Amino acid sequence: MTLHLGDTAPDFTQNSTEGPIQFHKWIGDHSAVLFSHPADYTPVCTTELGSAAKLVEEFCRRDVKVLAVSVDPVARHTDWIEDINETQKAHVNFPILGDQDRKVAGLYDMIHPKQNNTRTVRSVFTIDPKKSIRTILTYPASTGREFGEIFRVIDSLQLTDKYNVATPANWHNGDEVVISPSLKDKDTLTAKFPKGHRETTPYLRMIPQPSH
Ligand code: BEZ
Repeated sequence: MTLHLGDTAPDFTQNSTEGPIQFHKWIGDHSAVLFSHPADYTPVCTTELGSAAKLVEEFCRRDVKVLAVSVDPVARHTDWIEDINETQKAHVNFPILGDQDRKVAGLYDMIHPKQNNTRTVRSVFTIDPKKSIRTILTYPASTGREFGEIFRVIDSLQLTDKYNVATPANWHNGDEVVISPSLKDKDTLTAKFPKGHRETTPYLRMIPQPSH
């Protein structure tokens, strides 16, 4: 199934290391990151799951729940978690789905046959409290993810949902942002951004980050 930004995240019930999860109910009023990895007991995946575990507070701070998935069974995940905790000096504190029947992998198009016929690639789906898909990122098995980029995207989504702004290239939380091109009316502009803005061209208008 091909998913697009703005689609409703497919709902499912699947077993996990923390018991069965009904996805939409589990997300509740929060946001979620659903991320797949190719296989348990592999080096890159071990570092990724360890990194994610160490960053759970950062996800919590942004009101984002974390859910991992691979096609390995729950019992294998549970054994592997001991290795992750020991080798990565981490404490895996989010559920990992045991997607042996590839239900979730199929719904989210996580198996890319030209990479591997049976294993999931490294997908990342960011899902908002309305269960709308806001970001889709895909990495090959050989490239471990940069979680800073995932936080950067979440921060951008949360900021741009709240204010009539967009975030430019290489933006990080606290940097200047751009005023949405759709905001053209001068009075509305002044009312929304009373401290003024910096105009490079009529379409490239910068302001300090509103929430900062
Ligand atoms: C890894 O996690 O190290 C890995 C998994 C599948 C293919 C290549 C690397």
